[in-house]
Amino acid sequence: MNNPNLKEQVESRRTFAIISHPDAGKTTITEQLLLFGGAIRQAGTVKGKKTGNFAKSDWMEIEKQRGISVTSSVMQFDYDGKRVNILDTPGHEDFSEDTYRTLMAVDSAVMVVDSAKGIEAQTKKLFQVVKRRGIPIFTFINKLDRDGREPLELLEELEEVLGIESFPMNWPLGMGKGLEGIYDIHNKRVEFYRPEKYDNQKYIDLDENGEIPADHPLRNNSIYNQVLEEVELVTEAGDEFDPEKVSRGQQTPVFFGSALTNFGVQTFLETFLQYAHAPYDHETKDGELVSPYEEEFSGFVFKIQANMNPAHRDRIAFVRVCSGTFERGMDVTLERTKKKMKLSNVTQFMADSRENVEEAVAGDIIGVYDTGNYQIGDTIYEGKKAVAYEDLPSFTPELFMKVAAKNVMKQKSFHKGILQLVQEGAIQLYKTYLTEEYILGAVGQLQFEVFQHRMLNEYNSEIVMTPMGSKIARWIEPEDLDEKMSSSRNILARDRFDQPLFLFENQFAERWFADKYPNVKLKQLM
Ligand code: G4P
Repeated sequence: MNNPNLKEQVESRRTFAIISHPDAGKTTITEQLLLFGGAIRQAGTVKGKKTGNFAKSDWMEIEKQRGISVTSSVMQFDYDGKRVNILDTPGHEDFSEDTYRTLMAVDSAVMVVDSAKGIEAQTKKLFQVVKRRGIPIFTFINKLDRDGREPLELLEELEEVLGIESFPMNWPLGMGKGLEGIYDIHNKRVEFYRPEKYDNQKYIDLDENGEIPADHPLRNNSIYNQVLEEVELVTEAGDEFDPEKVSRGQQTPVFFGSALTNFGVQTFLETFLQYAHAPYDHETKDGELVSPYEEEFSGFVFKIQANMNPAHRDRIAFVRVCSGTFERGMDVTLERTKKKMKLSNVTQFMADSRENVEEAVAGDIIGVYDTGNYQIGDTIYEGKKAVAYEDLPSFTPELFMKVAAKNVMKQKSFHKGILQLVQEGAIQLYKTYLTEEYILGAVGQLQFEVFQHRMLNEYNSEIVMTPMGSKIARWIEPEDLDEKMSSSRNILARDRFDQPLFLFENQFAERWFADKYPNVKLKQLM
């Protein structure tokens, strides 16, 4: 479609996800961002947090949660001439392969770290996925209003544990009760935590020596002088801020702040919007790059959300727009099947403004109503020239369940259901080598619950799942396969593409195996 404003629109897009370990403050910071963008009027509206967390077994609650999450999966607002799309990456009980796949649809990521806890397990996992994509990663070290770890120590941990160069955009002036503000290295100013202490001034500029005026009361505070020394140390001994490196994901700009007290969040947002990237080119299976400024529409499915309401079997396929302009009612081709599709029933995640035209460009997400046509990783495109974007990576599952049909007479619906849900990308499936038992693999517990629910409601198949606990899945080359290598501590299985793998009981079992069979190469997915 001919859209004279395409270039301008694409350049204004900032599409990102916030990654963090549960409780680091992702929801709180998201809410602050939405407040700045005018997308919500009151904190507490994103997760309905105040109603409390749901119990895992309470399916009604999960339904509610999932129901809400269709609309909160993508949050959009305008700020400072930019159109911001925040893609939700659920954590806690909601963690699933979708969480990882969502990271394939963003152009940058924000990593929220709790200043008292540092880098935690889930942050590390999500970070690795983002890092491989080579997209910008911004770090927000949160909860400065509480006593946390020393900033220097946190930066060191960032570099050591995650292996990424960091640059402090600002530096805390104290913490917890002694928090005075941040020394803003990037914007060359001090931002006060309690402006009422300083004539209601929110900021004060630094002079060319990096100092505030000599008569300012903060000059007498020992923290101020200590921070000057620390900043000198990190800026002289450390790396320089390098926007080029940032855009390739090789350096993370680090911001300190407190999401709960809304301190440092706006400064973060403004700098983030300046340096986070507009949509990039997207690579096809043939290694071709499709520019986001290309006129013909294209995009790929990165997530499928099943409707948990038993009365409806519909689903929503989340499509990341990669090029051109989406227009309601347009005709596209689904690359895998070459089927023509009309995009008429589509949820758009538009900013809350009436002037908006009903269109979306690269960087935007559209939710396509689906009756079972789409699979994760599918490409849709406009026009005659076929486009097939790269497959989305598979992620190594960590949780496993044996699965069987409860009623042996109902094998047909059981097989049909499993086949379709596995193809859709809802869960991973393996078969043990010798006994041909079915094993499901997932990265989060919720995937099993959703699977069981959908098998029953969509395929009328009651299943029995037997937990196998966590396992370490490692793939081997088919030529290395030897059935004698299998035991109860290292189960030999095949994935759905018939590739052999082992499910090791624990790291000890994996090491034991590696010692015993040094020539067998053990591989993991992403
Ligand atoms: P998550 O989405 O990453 O899981 O974290 P969430 O924002 O829900 O925050 C987890 C807890 O940390 C919440 O407290 C929240 O209020 C608190 N928090 C977030 N940012 C800050 C901050 O900058 N400073 C301080 N002191 N606390 C912060 P909660 O008691 O678990 O929940 P709530 O009842 O307050 O909502």
